[in-house]
Amino acid sequence: MSSAKLVYEGKEFTLPVMEGTEKERAIDVRKLRAETGLVTYDDGYGNTGSCKSAITFIDGDQGILRYRGYPIEEVAERGRFTEVCYLLIYGRRPTLEELAAWRQKMTMHTLIHEDMKKFYEGYPPNAHPMAIMAAMVASLSSFYPDTDKDLDLNIIRILAKSKTLAAFAYKKSIGQPFVYPRNDMSWPANFLRMMFAVPAEEYEVPKAFEDAMNLLLILHADHEQNCSTSTMRMVGSSEANLYASLSAAICALWGPRHGGANQAVLEMLEELRASGEDYKSFLERVKKGDSKARLMGFGHRIYKNFDPRAKLLKTAADRIFDELGIHDPLLDLAKKLEEVALSDEYFVKRKLYPNVDFYSGIIYRAMGIPTDMFTVMFTLGRIPGWIAHYMEQRNDPDGYRIHRPRQIYTGETQRVFEDWGTKRL
Ligand code: CMC
Repeated sequence: MSSAKLVYEGKEFTLPVMEGTEKERAIDVRKLRAETGLVTYDDGYGNTGSCKSAITFIDGDQGILRYRGYPIEEVAERGRFTEVCYLLIYGRRPTLEELAAWRQKMTMHTLIHEDMKKFYEGYPPNAHPMAIMAAMVASLSSFYPDTDKDLDLNIIRILAKSKTLAAFAYKKSIGQPFVYPRNDMSWPANFLRMMFAVPAEEYEVPKAFEDAMNLLLILHADHEQNCSTSTMRMVGSSEANLYASLSAAICALWGPRHGGANQAVLEMLEELRASGEDYKSFLERVKKGDSKARLMGFGHRIYKNFDPRAKLLKTAADRIFDELGIHDPLLDLAKKLEEVALSDEYFVKRKLYPNVDFYSGIIYRAMGIPTDMFTVMFTLGRIPGWIAHYMEQRNDPDGYRIHRPRQIYTGETQRVFEDWGTKRL
């Protein structure tokens, strides 16, 4: 095993170096404080390995993403979302028999308790569906309080019910009656039907939409230690139950720097088009650091090359639009922005490329999904990834500690809290 040496105040300390299966190396600083009195400082955890994980591998310089060793391009082309859920959570592809049983279970648990429908009634019509999702997922723990006793069953429950919760949030926002799930449909088709069917008429889910939804779900399914997944592990480390931990992860995903970026991209494109501003002058404002102009859907903490998910989605967007004969000026605008940004020194120097959120929203829009549901769509895809990390943490043969980072205190040193005595009103 190799090691690294640290010299501090004339003394030498040896720190072990760990190596992963893809030759990624890390200095193990677990004993650093005990031996030196020092902690590490890493704002935003950009250089911190917070766990060992065998779920997803990313090489951000090469633009590589693999789920359990399988390249994302192959999983996206040949896989189905339900199978990917199993793969991520249980670490291997199911056999065809296991897959059939797994899919059957995932369709038998789609209904939510009728009492939960009352929760929806209390929300104002313009409530953001992410607020509803986070609350509903946490609320499931009150219907299944023994979450830990039968974790596998609760995993099935949330994977099955998440789409019902999401579709009900949408129906609530447009004032339509809820449409109940149907157990003879695929996961994506069942969801789209609950979104768009109305009680009096059946809704034929277009095959192109079902396939696009399957692709989007797969591409969002996991992405190692991002903000929401780290939240899942952080909350899970306190031994909070599965639903509570998922609810926290959903809230973390909501922000515009993370999963909320897909909504922000669409809003940016719509505003730019409506304002009539030339896209080149918008990019100039972005480069000047104008606080109102950031190229949403661009940049990534890990990818310093193309995000492979963005590549797949750009191709998918073209295919879907061709197949359905749709023309969306926002897709043209996005492509123009991408073209200029990719050859502009500002973006090239900073290695800023389109990420998964740059094209996903345009596809959701073509499917008729409203902008404020976009981050919910991301949530539906990411739930299996969060669960996989929660389970990996729980089943770690070395155990796990509660997550509790240190800080460098920069506040006041000790001072007196004066007694105001009778001067106090
Ligand atoms: N537009 C313009 N400049 C940018 C952008 C952008 N989208 N992203 C980064 N930069 C600049 C940034 O200002 C900084 O410049 P300088 O060195 O002059 O200060 C430099 O590039 C490095 O950026 P950073 O903010 O230090 O990078 P980060 O790793 O902390 O942040 C990010 C990553 C994704 C939060 C950021 O790139 C961003 O805000 N992008 C837009 C939001 C977005 O699309 N988020 C979705 C991420 S992918 C989906 C997901 O997994 O959540």
